[in-house]
Amino acid sequence: MKQIQIANTEIKASQVVLGCMRMNEPSLDVATIIQTAYDNGVNFFDHADIYGGGTCETIFAKALKATTISRSDIYIQSKVGIRPGIAFDFSKAHIIEAVEGSLKRLDTDYLDALLLHRPDTLVEPEEVAEAFTQLEKAGKVRAFGVSNQNPGQIELLKTAIQQSMNINQLQFGLMYTGMVDSGINVNMTNQAGLVRDSGILEYSRIENVTIQAWSPFQYGFFEGPFVGNMEKIS
Ligand SMILES: NC(=O)c1ccc[n+]([C@@H]2O[C@H](COP(=O)([O-])OP(=O)(O)OC[C@H]3O[C@@H](n4cnc5c(N)ncnc54)[C@H](OP(=O)(O)O)[C@@H]3O)[C@@H](O)[C@H]2O)c1
Repeated sequence: MKQIQIANTEIKASQVVLGCMRMNEPSLDVATIIQTAYDNGVNFFDHADIYGGGTCETIFAKALKATTISRSDIYIQSKVGIRPGIAFDFSKAHIIEAVEGSLKRLDTDYLDALLLHRPDTLVEPEEVAEAFTQLEKAGKVRAFGVSNQNPGQIELLKTAIQQSMNINQLQFGLMYTGMVDSGINVNMTNQAGLVRDSGILEYSRIENVTIQAWSPFQYGFFEGPFVGNMEKIS
């Protein structure tokens, strides 16, 4: 398994990450999923406070104990900032409260990485900065990043945040290729030429941001995996 060094962090992660969003509805025993992934070189596990209403983190922590894997053998990432049914919330109070919740459910003292899940477009960058610094100083979060954010949104956060942010988790897969399509179709009037992400691919390469692909098997936003479904798509 190829390893990737995430810039400005201690993280040397496997190129393939195990996403834990569906761990509350597994098609196999969760401990078997985690152990199999690990035995095949996967050392990075992606969570969010909202997955399964929090149950995915709890299920993962319990299952991890049934494997041969120690906490220090792996990287655990979680995400905060979505308040289902309410809004996106990047306030200091919410970020800290949400991280505390994830640490408790994951039964760990620290997150290797914390991402801001979806943009709170009315964010106060100073509030995020205070939350990040408090969490870092307390040893509760080791690295920071974002998800689903464009270059302008990242630059806005960087006006206040002291920590480097070298991760952006974005939807990308064989059937979801917008950030590549727009580069191939520059200055063309076809649909694929539309830039919907303000040039996030080029920005990430220039700024050394690792892009994590989410839902790589989905053919739409959440329509289902494309494998075995091609007749539905065409
Ligand atoms: N940052 C964000 O906003 C965001 C949003 C969504 C997801 N994510 C992250 O991305 C991770 C992956 O997302 P996802 O679960 O939607 O992604 P996915 O890997 O695209 O889809 C998983 C689904 O594909 C099915 N599948 C996998 N291989 C298959 C095959 N060979 N044939 C048929 N079906 C197959 C799985 O079925 P089985 O269960 O039967 O294996 C499962 O239902 C999540 O766990 C989460 O960590 C992040």
